[in-house]
Formats: sequence, structure tokens, C-alpha cells
Amino acid sequence: MFPPTDSSRLSELDQALQNRGWYASTELVPPSLCQDLLKQLKLHQELGAFKKAGIGQGPRQQLLSEVRGDWIHWIDDEIPTTLEAPFIVWLKALKDHLNTQLYLGASCQELHYAAYPPGSGYQKHLDVFQSEARRLLSFVLYLNTAWKLGDGGELAIFSEDDANHLEVKIQPLFGQFAVFLSGKIYHQVEFTNQERLSVTGWLKKPAPTAVFPGF
Ligand code: OGA
Ligand code: MN
Repeated sequence: MFPPTDSSRLSELDQALQNRGWYASTELVPPSLCQDLLKQLKLHQELGAFKKAGIGQGPRQQLLSEVRGDWIHWIDDEIPTTLEAPFIVWLKALKDHLNTQLYLGASCQELHYAAYPPGSGYQKHLDVFQSEARRLLSFVLYLNTAWKLGDGGELAIFSEDDANHLEVKIQPLFGQFAVFLSGKIYHQVEFTNQERLSVTGWLKKPAPTAVFPGF
């Protein structure tokens, strides 16, 4: 895989996704990619590019800060910046790996930067809903260089078999990469006491092709 990725971590990821539907490690994404993304995130922030994230899509999109408190900026994965390009290459290689090893069936990706201000979080939810039915695998790469215990902002993961059972709380440490099955794993962002930065995204199945009667 390019850039090179620890192959034993990759097999751990395959196993974990199959067995319990989620995985997290600080040893998957090469550190230089994380540093580049953090640099780019800060540049976007300085330019005021982040927008308050909504819930749902289209006219039904609501801005409910108590439910979801992050600010986001979408990444153009077709024309990434120089600082984003290496991560997009890595992500596409991960997608190819998962398609081959787990028959994931992902054809594309979408991703955005996310910044949660102090005092914000994201209530328990699934990443697949009516207008987002194509999401297969969710991922979050955390970019917080000075995170310490007590800062909050953990990603709480609930069990695949029992959505009421809290399985783990993942610390949003710099370089931590969390993945989970978008349609099966309920998750929640705990209230954060510090600004909490990440790149969040999804591997998606292809859009259904329209079938026209008579063709
Ligand atoms: C999301 C989400 C988790 C995180 O954006 O849908 O659940 O840890 N993010 O930021
Ligand atoms: Mn989510």
C-alpha cells in the first residue's frame, strides 16, 4: 500500500471490522499525512472556510447545535490540494484493500474537515439515513496534537449487536484513525472541553443507475 502502511495493523483492521464492526489505531495513517492535513485545516480555518454542520440534507436540514455542534469544510477529493493529495492516495489504497479483502463494494469517498468548539458534541446516531443511504464505512482521523485525559471529546462506540451497550470510548489523539460500519454502529461524540479537530469521511457504494422504461 502506498504510502506504506503496517500490514499487521491492516489485517487487524480487517479482522475487527468483520468481528465487531469497528477498529481504531494510531499506527495506520503515516504521520506525515496527518501533519499535512492539519496544516491544510488551519489554512482553511484562517480563511473562514468552515460552515456550521447540519443534520440531514436539503430542505429538511436543521441546525440543531444541541444535537451536533461541529463546523465543517468539505474536501474536494477530485482536485485535492498538495497537502491533501497524499491522504487521498492512501485512502483510495485502503478502499482497494477493503474491497479485495472484505468485498466492501466501495466505489468512491467523501470527506470533510471537522472542528468541534469547546462545549460541543454529536449525539448518538448512525451515519446511514434516507439521504445518505450509500455510506458503507465511516472513518475519522483525529488531528489534536496536545490532547490529554479529561479533555473529553471521545468517540463513544456502541455494540453492533446491542445499540444500548457502550463498547469503547476512543480518544481523539493526533493520528488516531477510527473506522466503523456506517449502517450498523451507533456512535456519539462526547462533549469536548478543547477544540477538537479531525478529518471525517465515508467510503460509499456506487449511485444506483437510473432505469428508464423503454430502454
Ligand atoms: C460524524 C461523526 C465522529 C467523530 O461526523 O458523523 O460521527 O468522532 N463523527 O468525530
Ligand atoms: Mn457519525
